[in-house]
Amino acid sequence: MDSRMDDWYWWCAIHHLLRLRRSTLYVAIFLSFVTITFAVYSVSSIWRLPPPHRHHQQMNNELVPSLQDSQPAVDETTKCNKIIANNQVEHRPIVILYWTTFFETNDFEVGLGSKPFAECDNNQIIAQHSSCLTTTDRGLFNDSDAVIFHGRDLHANDLPPAGWRRPHQHFIFYLLESPVHTDLSMLNQPVFQNYFNRTMTYRRDSDIVELHAYGRLKCIHHPEATVLFNHSCAEFPSSAAAAEPSPTSSTTGPASIRTDNNSHQQMMKNKTRTIAWFVSNCHSNSQRESLVRKLSQFIAVDVYGKCGNGSHRCSNKSECDRLLSDSYRFYLSFENSLCPDYVTEKLYRPLAHDTVPVVYGGSNYSFYLPPGSYINAMDYKSPEDLANYLKKLMIDDALYSNYFKWRDQYQVIQSPLDGWCHLCRLLMMDPLLVKMKQKSYFNIAEWWSGQTTNQTCLSSPSWQ
Ligand SMILES: *[C@@H]1O[C@H](CO)[C@@H](O)[C@H](O)[C@H]1NC(C)=O
Ligand SMILES: *[C@@H]1O[C@H](CO)[C@@H](O)[C@H](O)[C@H]1NC(C)=O
Ligand SMILES: *[C@@H]1O[C@H](CO)[C@@H](O)[C@H](O)[C@H]1NC(C)=O
Ligand SMILES: *[C@@H]1O[C@H](CO)[C@@H](O)[C@H](O)[C@H]1NC(C)=O
Ligand SMILES: *[C@@H]1O[C@H](CO)[C@@H](O)[C@H](O)[C@H]1NC(C)=O
Ligand SMILES: *[C@@H]1O[C@H](CO)[C@@H](O)[C@H](O)[C@H]1NC(C)=O
Ligand SMILES: *[C@@H]1O[C@H](CO)[C@@H](O)[C@H](O)[C@H]1NC(C)=O
Ligand SMILES: *[C@@H]1O[C@H](CO)[C@@H](O)[C@H](O)[C@H]1NC(C)=O
Ligand SMILES: *[C@@H]1O[C@H](CO)[C@@H](O)[C@H](O)[C@H]1NC(C)=O
Repeated sequence: MDSRMDDWYWWCAIHHLLRLRRSTLYVAIFLSFVTITFAVYSVSSIWRLPPPHRHHQQMNNELVPSLQDSQPAVDETTKCNKIIANNQVEHRPIVILYWTTFFETNDFEVGLGSKPFAECDNNQIIAQHSSCLTTTDRGLFNDSDAVIFHGRDLHANDLPPAGWRRPHQHFIFYLLESPVHTDLSMLNQPVFQNYFNRTMTYRRDSDIVELHAYGRLKCIHHPEATVLFNHSCAEFPSSAAAAEPSPTSSTTGPASIRTDNNSHQQMMKNKTRTIAWFVSNCHSNSQRESLVRKLSQFIAVDVYGKCGNGSHRCSNKSECDRLLSDSYRFYLSFENSLCPDYVTEKLYRPLAHDTVPVVYGGSNYSFYLPPGSYINAMDYKSPEDLANYLKKLMIDDALYSNYFKWRDQYQVIQSPLDGWCHLCRLLMMDPLLVKMKQKSYFNIAEWWSGQTTNQTCLSSPSWQ
């Protein structure tokens, strides 16, 4: 074992002692941790090793989660797993308990056991002897590292007994609906004051950004794209932590490599229908139906589903998707509420099926899609202006084709599980975080409604 490995070994051993014994006197363990750290520090300075507090700082970074900046902490886990494997330090799985259901499902749609983590990069997270597991068994509460509560299935009279709660356990507030469709007065009850430690929602300022039900864009790393665009690819949605938008924002790129192609031109010829809209909720908070009514005075909008008049039908999801791909130029990605970051599967469906999304929502879409890949209804003075631009795209194939340039660089991931990998990583890092970065939300209702961060939902404009 070289001296660097030795340094790591100490750190990892402490890491695991903490994990194994945390059910006993916590404070005592923390004190011995401080003592050991001090001892290692003294010894290492004699041996001129890098001082151990280096690791603490890196651990802290893990607590500022984002889709992009998790790399350094991940490397630590990998190293640590290797060292532990070499030294047979014992390991037990991280247990994540689903306390509530997620609507009708009890597995949150991502599965039980190790399933939600199956796609996590093995090298980065999970060595054979260490893994994250999900369960619905409330009997495992005392062994749980995290307990997940779905905001829509949460009830103040069905919570874990207060006396059982341990300081290391993360109570996680989980929600994918918008604040407009959340019972904020329920969340405002005193019992939820300082109750949740972490948030796991679609919003980019959550501790864990969770998009499995909605989607995201992933960079395709092929050399062609790098040469063509001459910059590195930036992931979408971009992280809320990143103050500046990434340099991908150049709208004028060279012509797409895939657009001047026979099959593409054939596809254009077949796309003779204008706008499709699949919808089942006919009276939305965002008043999107009113905007659609206005729009359809100027351009044909084919309404499928419950809110249509029955003249347009498709029988199942795959048939509807094929119809989009084959025949339509546009799809209305109109959200039911105008809330920050509330961008749902309505956006990713057309992207995945050869159709240009016309978006209407409360988000800044520049955080979600590369420029030139969508049309924002709010950028137009009136429904008529919007309709005129769409009509232009019905006949100008070259202009329309530009809306597919993003495909050279990105692919659509419709059920991304990164959020779950992130959760697992966060919990694996927990022993050191416990004392250093404990966190709880004083008023979850205020945070969720956006009052604490000025991220409130917009009221809908009137479409006269
Ligand atoms: C959890 O631990 C408490 C004691 O701290 C005990 O009373 C309770 O029965 C345990 N719960 C379960 C589900 O084992
Ligand atoms: C790529 O961009 C860099 C600056 O970011 C520039 O110096 C270089 O000439 C560019 N290369 C090409 C092939 O455009
Ligand atoms: C043209 O389209 C086909 C798919 O039909 C694709 O395999 C090929 O790479 C495309 N050609 C160019 C030059 O991109
Ligand atoms: C275009 O439509 C024709 C006839 O419906 C079909 O045979 C052909 O495969 C379609 N082409 C593409 C690229 O979808
Ligand atoms: C349904 O609405 C469309 C306009 O969107 C209209 O052209 C069609 O005639 C209507 N069909 C029926 C059965 O009312
Ligand atoms: C969907 O409908 C089409 C045509 O009606 C049928 O051929 C196909 O098997 C159906 N797919 C599924 C998954 O039900
Ligand atoms: C959206 O975000 C971009 C990048 O931060 C910013 O330049 C733009 O002004 C924002 N748009 C709106 C409508 O807030
Ligand atoms: C979670 O919140 C509770 C209650 O505020 C607190 O006692 C505990 O230390 C917190 N745990 C973590 C890991 O942040
Ligand atoms: C929220 O906005 C108000 C005024 O619009 C401003 O005074 C306040 O500082 C903002 N708070 C945050 C956290 O940005």
